[in-house]
Amino acid sequence: MLLKRQYITMLKLFNTNRLITPVLNKCNHSTAAKSVTAVKINGTEFISDEYTNVTPKIMSYLGKNLHLRKDNPLSMVRQRIVQYFYKSFTHRGNPTFSVYDNLSPIVTTKQNFDDLLIPADHPSRAKADCYYINKDTLFRAHMTAHQSELLRSGLNNFLMIGDVYRRDEIDSTHFPVFHQVDAVRSQRRDELFPNHPDLDIFEPTFYKQKPHLFTNTILDPTKQSCYTLEATKLMEVQLKNHLIGLVQALFGKDIKYRWVDAYFPFTHPSWELEIYYENDWLEVLGCGIVRNEILLNSGLNDTIAYAFGLGLERLAMALYKIPDIRLMWSEDSGFLSQFHNKDLNAKITYKPVSVFPQCVNDISFWLPDNFTIDTFMSNDFYDLVRDIGGDIIEQVKLKDKFVHPKTKKHSLCFSIVYRHLERTLTQAEVNQIHKAIETAIVTAFNVTIR
Ligand code: PHE
Repeated sequence: MLLKRQYITMLKLFNTNRLITPVLNKCNHSTAAKSVTAVKINGTEFISDEYTNVTPKIMSYLGKNLHLRKDNPLSMVRQRIVQYFYKSFTHRGNPTFSVYDNLSPIVTTKQNFDDLLIPADHPSRAKADCYYINKDTLFRAHMTAHQSELLRSGLNNFLMIGDVYRRDEIDSTHFPVFHQVDAVRSQRRDELFPNHPDLDIFEPTFYKQKPHLFTNTILDPTKQSCYTLEATKLMEVQLKNHLIGLVQALFGKDIKYRWVDAYFPFTHPSWELEIYYENDWLEVLGCGIVRNEILLNSGLNDTIAYAFGLGLERLAMALYKIPDIRLMWSEDSGFLSQFHNKDLNAKITYKPVSVFPQCVNDISFWLPDNFTIDTFMSNDFYDLVRDIGGDIIEQVKLKDKFVHPKTKKHSLCFSIVYRHLERTLTQAEVNQIHKAIETAIVTAFNVTIR
C-alpha cells in the first residue's frame, strides 16, 4: 500500500535545502546549511548533509509512542491484534509470535530500503517523501525496515509495531507520523507439510544449482521461481485466512472485504486487503510471500515466509468512528476518557467533544523565474505550513494554478484550512499565523505573494 502510494506524482519541486537550517536553528527557513553541522537526536549526533530534511516539528513526535499509551485508541487496536495472534498461534502452550514494539524509529537506508530489495532509483526513497537525517539515516518509513535484522537474529514469527514517518499531503486521514503493525511468519518444509513428506517448498532446480549461482525470479505472477506452487498456494491460503480472521475479530463476522493484487519490492506475489466502510473500499493492509533473497541474506535457506503490514490509524478510525487523524494525538480528557479503562472488545463509538468552526485563508504566490507548477516541491511547502501553524492546520489544498500569458510566470493558490480541535480560533489569531506562513515561504522559496 504505502510504498506504492509514492508513485502518485505530486507537484514537484524547488530543490531547496530549506529544511536543513530549522533542525539546527529553530524556525529560520531562509538559508541552506553552509557548513557541516550535527543534528542531535536522543543524545546521538548525526552529521547533516544535503539529504537532511527532518524538521523540529517532526522530531517532536519521537518517543510519543501513542501505540503504547494506555488510553489511546491506537493502543487498544494494537492490543487486540496482539491478542489475536497470541490466541491463534501457540506452540506447546507458548505464543508462537514474539512482539517488538519498542524498536528505534531511526534506521539506516540499508534497513529501510536495501535489505528489502528496494532499487536505488525507487520513488519511495525520494527526499520529497521521507524524513532524512542524512543520506544514510532516516526516520523509518515503514515497520518492514526491521524485518531483515529480526530474521537475522533467528526469529521466525514476529510482530513489529511502532511509529513511521512519511512526508505527505495534509487532510483528515493523513498525518506525517502514523503507526503500523508488521509481521513475518516463516515455515520450514516439515512445518508447512507435516503430513506430506512427498511435498517440498523448493523447486528441484533450487537444490541442483549452487546457491550463489541460483537466481530467484519473479517473472511468473503466481510465484517466485525458487518455490513450488503447492508451497506458495498453501502459504497464500494461510496468510489470507489469518488476515481475514483478524479483520473479523476486529469488525465482526459480517465485515465485507476484498483482495486486490499488489506489488511490493520485498514480496511476491503480493496483495492488499480492502474492507467496505462507509460506502467505500478502504485499504487496510499490504502483504505477500517474502522474497527468498531476503531470507537467504538473513541466513535462512530452508524456509518460506509471509509478511504483512497494516496501518493502525485507519483501523482505529474505522472501528471507533474517529473522524480526524489528528485526534489520535489529542491530550484532551474529553477524547481520552472515551477510551479510558474500557474493555478491549467493547463497542466504542467516538462522540465529538464539540465541533469548533474552521477558518479558511487562501495563499497565492508567483513562482520565481524558471520555476513551473510541475517543479514546485509541494511537500516542502506542506512541511513549512505545518512547522509554523502546528496541529491547527487541518488541510492544505491546491485551489488554482495559472500561467501569466505575457510574463509566463507561474502562480499557485492554496487554501489553508485552520481548525483547533479543542477551542474556537479567532480570525485575528489565524491571520497572524497566516501572515507568518507568507513571510516564511517568501524567504524559503523566493516566491512573490500576490
Ligand atoms: N511495508 C509496506 C507498506 O508500508 C506494507 C507491507 C509489509 C507489504 C509487508 C508487504 C509485506 O506499505
